Amino acid sequence: MPPLTDRKWSDAGGAATASLPATGTRPGAHAGRGSQDGLGKTERTDAWWLVPVSQAIGLVVLIGYANYAAILGAAHHEYTGAGRNYLSPFYSPYIRPAWLPGWLSPALLILIFPLGFRATCYYYRKAYYRVFFADPVACAVGEARSKGYCGELKFPFVLQNLHRYFLYAALAFLVVLWWDVIKAFTFHDSQGAAQFGVGGGSLAILASTGLLTLYTFSCHSLRHLIGGKLDCFSCVAAGGPRLQAWRGVSALNGHHMGFAWWSLAAVCFADLYVRMCSMGVFHDPILMTIHAFDMPLSPFGP
Ligand code: FES
Repeated sequence: MPPLTDRKWSDAGGAATASLPATGTRPGAHAGRGSQDGLGKTERTDAWWLVPVSQAIGLVVLIGYANYAAILGAAHHEYTGAGRNYLSPFYSPYIRPAWLPGWLSPALLILIFPLGFRATCYYYRKAYYRVFFADPVACAVGEARSKGYCGELKFPFVLQNLHRYFLYAALAFLVVLWWDVIKAFTFHDSQGAAQFGVGGGSLAILASTGLLTLYTFSCHSLRHLIGGKLDCFSCVAAGGPRLQAWRGVSALNGHHMGFAWWSLAAVCFADLYVRMCSMGVFHDPILMTIHAFDMPLSPFGP
């Protein structure tokens, strides 16, 4: 086989071309049959539309709620009644500088990181390209656009390449979110002493952070970072641990779609739970308290 630089590439029509994008694949080189048919035309006889429609409903409901909570819901971002310390995951880490206008939600200062991580996620890209752009809407189903496809090489889609950097931010956020879990399991009695406690909110916040952790650790970029670019684990430093880590992330990666949906739903539910408690709509049940340790309020605060 000739060296890569000497090879002749061809487009979908078979015409030879000299230049090739960095991806190694000329745009349109692998256009499927669906790109030649009209939108929605197909010979499939199954209910192919069911998945895209379900995904569209799920994304509209969950993203709609997340926007409401992060932009308009700052007044009820936490619940500290009766010794609890619940913080909505949309507001963590909670940062409210003095210069921030009162009408602006502090969640907007950090939203770019979780939003960017989700928006550039390989799974969500597949989902929203299908349901919102119908490009393609499903396998072997006609698309609206028959030519002009350029992959993710041009603005704004070239920004999808930032996913690995949003992954680094997501890993840092997880540290903060697990600290919030510890706080959610730390109640304060009437004398202000800290104690281990389990309330409904503790479990909601634990589920949210736990599923976010699974979602993050099943990320395709993380899998590549750990071992995806290696040909030989035994040839690199710490190859054994890297191989074990790669196997673990690979096992999680097979469930990435599920973690993507469950984590998004769990974050929304945790916010809703904290919000309902803060608004007094319902009373947070205490399932267990243990005076295992008596400690001053610091560092957990009142
Ligand atoms: Fe989905 Fe990285 S690919 S979070």
